[in-house]
Amino acid sequence: MRVGIGILGGGTVGGALAHRLLTEGEAVTSKTGLELEVRKIAVRDLAKGRPYPFPPDLLTDSPADVVNDPAVQLVVELMGGLEPAADLVMQAIEAGKPVVTANKELVAIRGDELIKKAEERGVSLLFEAAVGGAIPIIRPLSASLAGERISEVIGIVNGTTNFILTQMCESGARYEEALAEAQSLGYAEADPSADVSGSDAASKAAILASLAFGTWIASDRVHREGIDQLQPEDIAFAADLGYLPKLLAIASESEAGIGVRVHTTLIPTDHPLASVRGSQNAVYVKGPAVDELLFAGPGAGGDPTATAVLGDIIEAARELLAGAQVPPRVRFGSGRIRDFSDIDTSWYLRLEVVDEPGVLAQIATTIGANRVSIESMVQIGRGETATLLFITHPSPESDHQAAIVALRQLEVVRQVAAAMRVLTV
Ligand SMILES: NC(=O)c1ccc[n+]([C@@H]2O[C@H](COP(=O)([O-])OP(=O)(O)OC[C@H]3O[C@@H](n4cnc5c(N)ncnc54)[C@H](OP(=O)(O)O)[C@@H]3O)[C@@H](O)[C@H]2O)c1
Repeated sequence: MRVGIGILGGGTVGGALAHRLLTEGEAVTSKTGLELEVRKIAVRDLAKGRPYPFPPDLLTDSPADVVNDPAVQLVVELMGGLEPAADLVMQAIEAGKPVVTANKELVAIRGDELIKKAEERGVSLLFEAAVGGAIPIIRPLSASLAGERISEVIGIVNGTTNFILTQMCESGARYEEALAEAQSLGYAEADPSADVSGSDAASKAAILASLAFGTWIASDRVHREGIDQLQPEDIAFAADLGYLPKLLAIASESEAGIGVRVHTTLIPTDHPLASVRGSQNAVYVKGPAVDELLFAGPGAGGDPTATAVLGDIIEAARELLAGAQVPPRVRFGSGRIRDFSDIDTSWYLRLEVVDEPGVLAQIATTIGANRVSIESMVQIGRGETATLLFITHPSPESDHQAAIVALRQLEVVRQVAAAMRVLTV
């Protein structure tokens, strides 16, 4: 059972995938009965040196030739970016060709439209590798757990920031030092802004939330904050309180609606996500029947990601050979999406205050006047200035923001030196 494969992109993932298909195709055939034959690979620069030398007759610098080649029955998009990837994927679907992609930006921004088009044409559109690299999470959310009323999906979905935070926690490195190390090891790009600002994680959060809750959530509805404000002293204080920082993608659904956000979050050191170190990724899923599930593993890298892509190719090839209209894997309803300011959050606050009688009462009154209540307080040091650490109970984000503004205006507060959200479970 032969299926002709066209690959758009022969870089880190496309190169690893093509090499696997060209050199280990027999192993796939003996396991699945499928002969996955690479018919064309599109790259931008034909003259570029590549770790895997492809037969020259397979290479083209015209991606449209891959999509339009009648010998290509299934298109794999591994170019990245929005255009021309979106256009090419749309053309392939319109031509009735199943598509596999690892492109989170494409899925997060155009997924709604592409999924509808694939349903209309009765072809597969699969994107397991778009979130969490090698970790199977898209199929579990859209198939294995489709019967579960998922209440929460919490992910560490960006390996670069998880590596940086792990270095900061474990070796006491400052943010800039840990980022430089991530860059020297190839975990971070020369321009790391998409990772450290939380925007890469926000695209993935939008995809996970859309599948978990069956409501399309555009990535621009995801509130995002990065990791660059984190200071080593707060890592140390948080560790004493039993917490460590992670950049989390948090999606939850309650009667009030669906909330999706990405920000640095303190999590208890015994939380299942606390043990996810270095560049690893993980997604934690909570639901009333399954209770807690944890999916973890390598979130990036050519070979691990190629395995996820190959899994999708095998599934799409089977559906193609079955010859029937492929039914939709997911349909989106119209759930209510909550504003970030309405979502309940808890906070860790570090205040530098004047050390004199009555200060604590003023601070507690100010926090309470903004409808925020204090869960715990620790005072560190005495003298002219004292450091106060607060953990607050969950209450709306907007109330916390108002409380922080009010604290900054108090004369006895020299500085709100740090403010970070704490995971509420
Ligand atoms: N790398 C990972 O670990 C990873 C993990 C999960 C998901 N992904 C996703 O997988 C996709 C591919 O990532 P990657 O790391 O493999 O990217 P990459 O190394 O930059 O490779 C991109 C490939 O696409 C080709 N290309 C780009 N624009 C083109 C155009 N207009 N026409 C023809 N060819 C074009 C490039 O050609 P040249 O080689 O000639 O430049 C290159 O071969 C992205 O969507 C990424 O987000 C990557």
